[in-house]
Amino acid sequence: TGYVTLDQGFVNTASCSSTITYIDGDAGILRYRGYPIDQLAERSTFLEVSYLLIHDALPTPAELAEFADKIRVHTLLQEEMRQFFGGFPRDAHPMAVLSSAVTALSTFYQDALDPNDPEQVEISGIRLMAKLPTIAAYAYKKSIGHPLPYPDNSLDYVQNFLRMTFGLPTVQYDVDPTLAKVLDMLFILHADHEQNCSTSTVRLVGSSGANLYSSVAAGVNALSGPLHGGANSAVLEMLEQIRVDGGDVDAFVRRVKAKEKGVKLMGFGHRVYKNYDPRAAIVKKAAQDVLSTMAKPDPLLEIAFKLEEIALADDYFVSRKLYPNVDFYTGLIYKAMGFPTKMFTVLFALGRLPGWIAQWREMVNDPANKIGRPRQLYTGSPEREFVPIDKR
Ligand code: CMC
Repeated sequence: TGYVTLDQGFVNTASCSSTITYIDGDAGILRYRGYPIDQLAERSTFLEVSYLLIHDALPTPAELAEFADKIRVHTLLQEEMRQFFGGFPRDAHPMAVLSSAVTALSTFYQDALDPNDPEQVEISGIRLMAKLPTIAAYAYKKSIGHPLPYPDNSLDYVQNFLRMTFGLPTVQYDVDPTLAKVLDMLFILHADHEQNCSTSTVRLVGSSGANLYSSVAAGVNALSGPLHGGANSAVLEMLEQIRVDGGDVDAFVRRVKAKEKGVKLMGFGHRVYKNYDPRAAIVKKAAQDVLSTMAKPDPLLEIAFKLEEIALADDYFVSRKLYPNVDFYTGLIYKAMGFPTKMFTVLFALGRLPGWIAQWREMVNDPANKIGRPRQLYTGSPEREFVPIDKR
């Protein structure tokens, strides 16, 4: 009742107030808890940033060590959970496996799901941080028919994930520290982005009183779409298609501008940034660094550079303020690291997890929190009389 406004896509409507992430989309500024993204990407680590997002303060050395230790002791999945992966077809999309497994996790911790108990919330967040890399690695191992490894807790967070993903019990696998550092930095860049589609989903599901696992599983599903986290895979598929079609970047841009159905410049544009996405600038530099170390240059990097150059000089993109977003160059790095395209969005989920946890906790602790329940404008039929089936 009362006055209802229509704002499809929440273009102008704030769903909450938040102290976590600040974006100035016109100026291309992003800060977590007040700290500029470039400083965090260059000087922090993913676990430190996760602590910062969740606890609203940079940790002391002792606090960080305790946080990392708590995560380390929870990296194992229950043995029954390992069997869970056997139930999916080999070609299951790893995002579907990931969200199913996150939901399934809640079945093992039924005595610690209460959103109103701070200790239970704390341990749920730790368990998710600890187990998501294990689940992600298993989703990949399953897809290639390899045995599921156990975590190696002598390694750090990202190194452990890389070893579980690429290691084999029969072959010595040494994690490349440079690649681990780059992946850690990419996780930092993805760690939060205020009220994006998946984070809003996590909050909306949580606003009903659902537990953290259920809320995060919903976030994973929201992230899977090509307009959101799925864009990183879609960019690589687009670059590959351009290469297969003969590398004619101008022809592809013409198709985008003609708004051919289903043809967009993936990795470009953003609801909030009307300037260069500050994360994209950092990723572009990392892509150049990582790809320059490869024995054989990736032709897709050249295609990406050319696409960006053409788009940034073209009135279609300039007038609509379409710039590269975080996803434009990430796929090239993930590919260089050896990840298959299907895994790219899973990597986004690993990075976004602390943001989801922090935002969910902020919502639960907000005294003004209410169940999310948007209104609608009804445009259907006026009242009509039911007609029995034999009279239709
Ligand atoms: N290629 C071509 N045209 C585009 C693109 C694009 N990537 N993005 C927006 N436009 C056009 C759009 O057609 C519209 O034109 P017109 O005014 O003539 O109708 C205008 O720009 C405004 O776009 P919009 O769709 O109203 O903008 P939005 O805020 O609803 O959508 C977006 C934002 C990110 C979904 C969109 O830019 C897009 O689909 N980009 C490609 C997918 C992508 O890279 N997504 C990742 C986003 S960043 C990481 C994340 O948060 O997940």
